[in-house]
Amino acid sequence: MNPRVILGIETSCDETAAALLINGRIVADRTTRQLLHERYGGVVPELASRAHERLLTDAVEGVMRDASVKTDDIEAVAATYGPGLAGALLVGLSFAKGLAAGLGVPFLGVNHIEGHLWSAELTAGPLPLPFLGLVASGGHTLTVGVHGFGRYNRLGATRDDAAGELFDKVGRLLGYGFPAGEAIDKEAMDYNGDPVRFPRARLSDDPLGFSFSGLKTAVLYYLRSRYKSGKSGFELTTEVRASVAAGIMEAVADMLATGLSNACDLADYRALVVSGGVAASRFLRERFSGFAAERGLPLFIPPPEHCTDNGSMIAYAGYRRFNGGWESPLDLSVDPGADLCSNHC
Ligand code: KG4
Ligand code: ZN
Repeated sequence: MNPRVILGIETSCDETAAALLINGRIVADRTTRQLLHERYGGVVPELASRAHERLLTDAVEGVMRDASVKTDDIEAVAATYGPGLAGALLVGLSFAKGLAAGLGVPFLGVNHIEGHLWSAELTAGPLPLPFLGLVASGGHTLTVGVHGFGRYNRLGATRDDAAGELFDKVGRLLGYGFPAGEAIDKEAMDYNGDPVRFPRARLSDDPLGFSFSGLKTAVLYYLRSRYKSGKSGFELTTEVRASVAAGIMEAVADMLATGLSNACDLADYRALVVSGGVAASRFLRERFSGFAAERGLPLFIPPPEHCTDNGSMIAYAGYRRFNGGWESPLDLSVDPGADLCSNHC
């Protein structure tokens, strides 16, 4: 029988998250972003693991309280096994395996990217198949042809930085905190002037691929040739900073659109589905919407709170996985470099 009540746990990076799903619907969801990494300008793996250990029990007990669910009511436990930081993954996975074993219920190891890929179904219901999926986050930027749950056709990926990683790296030059994607997005949205024109990488040997490290270098050179560098980034007026932020968003939007456009030319997709932390960007959501309209494709993007890492997407992918007849063994290990297509595909 399909489990009704599923607990989902996500600890792959710096969000400690848990959620409860009943019959595939979210009844409780708690996410704590670990703010302690801000002062280091990036996620410190050892500190992330320790913080997950400190925060996870509270997150799980919290969602159970929110939904008035008792431990004995839980019928399956899903957790991210990869990709992500090894120590961080270990905390959530071990917790989930221990709980599932103790309760005698199925344990479901979930691929983090698969969680992002299907997160739009949490609010939109069943997605039309096949769809073209773009997952853009701090760790990944890739496109996938999705023909069903677990039926993926890898299309393109970034060959260097992920889109969110680019935002977080140039954010430091611009004096934003960490992570910087949301701040760059807001600044770009509010800006009405002329954005700085940065070059767009063109990959003639890989039309479905992406590359964002050249843009990072272009931003650095642009700033270095014109402005003085201070303690927290370059010394810029608000106007200049906004023109750079808008220029970065424009360039990223164009490069993502080129990869999506080339992917669309190869197959007849019935929808475009965008997810991952970068999909929370209001600037990019507008662009994706324009792109999808041009192509005559329905567009699905989860609400911002389901774009960034969360427990609901893991519980949901676990639910879909279980319904598809997959259950994970209790000796499933963390896989920091897990590939979307290596998991029972
Ligand atoms: O999916 P996610 O929470 O974690 C990973 O799986 O990596 O994505 C985090 C990334 C960060 O790089 C962050 O800067 C970016 O998503 N991000 C955004 C926005 N919110 C988060 N980027 C652009 N606009 C946003 N509003
Ligand atoms: Zn993620």
